[in-house]
Amino acid sequence: MKIVVTGGLGFIGSHTVVELQNEGFEVIAIDNLSNSSESVLDGIFNITGKKPIFEKMDLRDKASVQNFFKKHNDVVGVIHFAASKAVGESVENPLLYYENNINTLVYLLQELKELPSANFIFSSSCTVYGQAEKMPITENASIQPAISPYGNTKQIGEEIITDVAKVTNINSILLRYFNPIGAHESAEIGELPIGVPQNLVPFITQTGLGLRQELSVYGNDYPTPDGTCIRDYIHVVDLAKAHVIALKRLLDKKNLEKVETFNLGTGTGSSVLEVITAFEKVSGQKLPYKIVGRREGDVIEAYANTDKASAVLGWKTQYNLEEAVDSAWKWEKKVRM
Ligand code: WQD
Repeated sequence: MKIVVTGGLGFIGSHTVVELQNEGFEVIAIDNLSNSSESVLDGIFNITGKKPIFEKMDLRDKASVQNFFKKHNDVVGVIHFAASKAVGESVENPLLYYENNINTLVYLLQELKELPSANFIFSSSCTVYGQAEKMPITENASIQPAISPYGNTKQIGEEIITDVAKVTNINSILLRYFNPIGAHESAEIGELPIGVPQNLVPFITQTGLGLRQELSVYGNDYPTPDGTCIRDYIHVVDLAKAHVIALKRLLDKKNLEKVETFNLGTGTGSSVLEVITAFEKVSGQKLPYKIVGRREGDVIEAYANTDKASAVLGWKTQYNLEEAVDSAWKWEKKVRM
């Protein structure tokens, strides 16, 4: 069965392509290579022995999207990762985010609704919850007004999908990721942030390798046990496997609601200092860091209630924080060799 993975050469996309291939799906990876490279195809091949069909395409080009689905009208599912995802950049350049994250979604859905069988998985984010009142966060926690255009595009995306589902045959699953980290155990694929990493774990592994001088910890005066922010760091392979399970659920079409939402996290919160400790343990080296002021827009804590994903998808994470950080460290060392 033919599955399209947009952003298929990206961090989460490439790991999901591997797991789809492991389950026997035929994969078409679409990517505009703005935040990835074609060499990721070799990494995927080295893991699975198969290269997905690759289409270099910018989903902002409506005609390209239309032509693609004219050519591939036997697609049974689309997993949509392709989007811009840097919170800070979205504040500086909101129109880039609304064009790249919203227009592309609309063009995809316009084609999907014409297919005989349309199954759609949307890459959403726990950022839609903002600072949730209650931990762990369930799927019916209230959606807070977005604090960045990036977060707003995820909220708007979910609303578009929900409205479209009411009047089309598209069945959708919204997956709200917490904090994806780590890399495939082979270290053949992983996270390749362009420029200075915005996210914690790639900054830590680059610092560990001496590519960065020291980590700045954005605040230790939060109302948490050690004063630093708490997040739910989920191994990217656990996350990828959840996508395959969600796709199979859509294809089975049993007891499906038109749009279903799942939080994807470990269910455990970890502070910034705990992530640093995990890195020092797996690497055997001290991490240079300093405490600086808070970062605008950070929530104090966010970690997932995983009951629904476990009960409905039968999915639970297999990797713990240290294993995930260790896989990120192995990847960092290999990719810099
Ligand atoms: C985690 C913690 C920082 C860097 C964002 C998006 C989310 C998703 C993942 C795309 C925070 C602290 C970080 C550093 C630090 N994005 N930190 N020093 O902000 O929870 O989530 O990225 O899919 O949608 O919102 O992740 O890794 O940036 O930060 O102290 O150099 O690490 O303050 O507490 P975040 P993050």
